[in-house]
Amino acid sequence: MLNYLIIFAIPWIAYAYENIALHKRAWQLHPYMYNHKIITTNASNAVDGLKTNLSYFGGQCTISAYHQYEALWHVDLGAVLGIHHINIYYRTDDVPWGPGNGFTTRFLGFSVFISNTTDKEDGVLCFKDDKFTRYTIPAVITLNCTHHGRYVIYYNNRTSTNLPPDYSAYAFNELCEFEVYGCPSPSYYGEDCSQSCPDQCMDSRCHIETGNCFGCKVGYQGPTCDQPCQKNTYGYGCSMICGLCVNGEQCYHVNGTCHNGCEAGIYGSHCQMGISLALK
Ligand SMILES: *[C@@H]1O[C@H](CO)[C@@H](O)[C@H](O)[C@H]1NC(C)=O
Ligand SMILES: *[C@@H]1O[C@H](CO)[C@@H](O)[C@H](O)[C@H]1NC(C)=O
Ligand SMILES: *[C@@H]1O[C@H](CO)[C@@H](O)[C@H](O)[C@H]1NC(C)=O
Ligand SMILES: *[C@@H]1O[C@H](CO)[C@@H](O)[C@H](O)[C@H]1NC(C)=O
Ligand SMILES: *[C@@H]1O[C@H](CO)[C@@H](O)[C@H](O)[C@H]1NC(C)=O
Ligand SMILES: *[C@@H]1O[C@H](CO)[C@@H](O)[C@H](O)[C@H]1NC(C)=O
Repeated sequence: MLNYLIIFAIPWIAYAYENIALHKRAWQLHPYMYNHKIITTNASNAVDGLKTNLSYFGGQCTISAYHQYEALWHVDLGAVLGIHHINIYYRTDDVPWGPGNGFTTRFLGFSVFISNTTDKEDGVLCFKDDKFTRYTIPAVITLNCTHHGRYVIYYNNRTSTNLPPDYSAYAFNELCEFEVYGCPSPSYYGEDCSQSCPDQCMDSRCHIETGNCFGCKVGYQGPTCDQPCQKNTYGYGCSMICGLCVNGEQCYHVNGTCHNGCEAGIYGSHCQMGISLALK
């Protein structure tokens, strides 16, 4: 009985952001073919949760074709989700990593984008390697990338005629595992994804660490959108000015209506007519 409890207690305590890419739909440009078939090298290998065998023969890595100048892979998270960080396990062929390993030169220069479409140009750049060498690039890399998006895109190219000295001549994917840590629901935040985003956040989405809203519903303001518009403002972003409500009352913070009518001599649905006359 005690063992039983411990088995369930450990993952609970250690629980942090979740790998939201695991077993999701993945795709790559130029898959590696053997006798015209994709055998053990396909795009989904990078999201199969397996990273014990980092060689071609292990069947746990995404391998792309030879002699290509662009490498492109993506995973579809299935919905716009909040991402916190990304771990990439690159192919090593299970031989010691470092300048003597032939795969370091293929990893160099890669970028990772978060996008709401399969096109990286529609998204945000999360990371672009422009400083690693084959001596310094790690085989497993963690990228901090707090963004909301649906597709996580890995890209590399060798299109330039003037490549840095350590770079391989061709572009490859070679992704053994691609983990995207975040929350499985876009309206939750915090390390264990247990806190729901503030009620008045636009689209119920918020920053995955802080819980701050990206924008507020109409009539609210502040980082967590908990403050109704005030000081005679209303509407989206509290950017509209109230009319002249009776007794200088604040208009309704959402749509600008004066609850108790207008100041004498003022009319209109928002008590905005006749203002210039009244001010004279
Ligand atoms: C890729 O691998 C998955 C899981 O093994 C399999 O279901 C799928 O059919 C494969 N896709 C291709 C194009 O071979
Ligand atoms: C990876 O898998 C291949 C094919 O099964 C095997 O020959 C090799 O020994 C494995 N390597 C490791 C480190 O398990
Ligand atoms: C994806 O769409 C959501 C909701 O419209 C937006 O908040 C987010 O910034 C978009 N992500 C990217 C990478 O454009
Ligand atoms: C990513 O964030 C972690 C935790 O905040 C930090 O320790 C690490 O240095 C960051 N990594 C990079 C590359 O900025
Ligand atoms: C190819 O890579 C170079 C250098 O990393 C980069 O400047 C360029 O924008 C990339 N080309 C495309 C089409 O993204
Ligand atoms: C503004 O909202 C209030 C409360 O929901 C509603 O009674 C009123 O009719 C609305 N005014 C306009 C002009 O839509």
